[in-house]
Amino acid sequence: MPGHTLLHLDHIPVIDEDYKKVDYVELVARALKAGYQSVMIDSSRLSLEENIKVTAEISAMAHEAGVPCEAELGAVMGHESGEMPPYEEIFAKKMGFTKLEEAKRFALESKCDWLSVAVGNIHGQVAEAVRNQKKPAARLDVEHIGALYQAAGIPLVLHGGSGVQHECLLEAVKAGIAKINVGTEMRQAYEFALQEKEGDIAYAQDKVYHKVREYIAGYLYNSDLANELK
Ligand code: 13P
Repeated sequence: MPGHTLLHLDHIPVIDEDYKKVDYVELVARALKAGYQSVMIDSSRLSLEENIKVTAEISAMAHEAGVPCEAELGAVMGHESGEMPPYEEIFAKKMGFTKLEEAKRFALESKCDWLSVAVGNIHGQVAEAVRNQKKPAARLDVEHIGALYQAAGIPLVLHGGSGVQHECLLEAVKAGIAKINVGTEMRQAYEFALQEKEGDIAYAQDKVYHKVREYIAGYLYNSDLANELK
């Protein structure tokens, strides 16, 4: 199995989950100086115009440093500290889904290299009240992913990868998803291990290592659909 590891700066928000302003330029500049190989700016809580403006600014900074820039359009829910609507309601009403006409304009004008989209995916269990709970098994609107890929013309990113139904995930890759972000499954493996053996960091790290292996080799690569994609 081919393997390649890169250092990516995930989600630098312009407005954070508590709706406070973040000094995003300073954070991205520090990461670029430190040698990160790609960065993500998340100005998805702003208006379309503002999101384009901020993303264009960070794309230019990243490109100047010779690295690609990821951005987000639409609302991938679950990060906010407040309560989220029930998952089935989000999916049925396509709440926060990335809009086709906006994706086309956004990619063209912001000059970002990857686009994180909202297509039924939700971020996992960040709020304190649900940190230890299992994420809802999200579905993905694969048809919408295909249309977004056509419209944007750049690779798409799926955030909220933990707990997404397996067949949706692999179909999503066929439709235009080029990168899958998985956090909760790894974080929970770490936190549960520390609860099991308090303070034993080496034990928790080992649990995460095995979880990553299980996810990549067992879950992503080891299926009929995955075999088709290889
Ligand atoms: P999950 O925690 O739901 O896997 O999402 C991770 C993520 O999208 C990080 O950007």
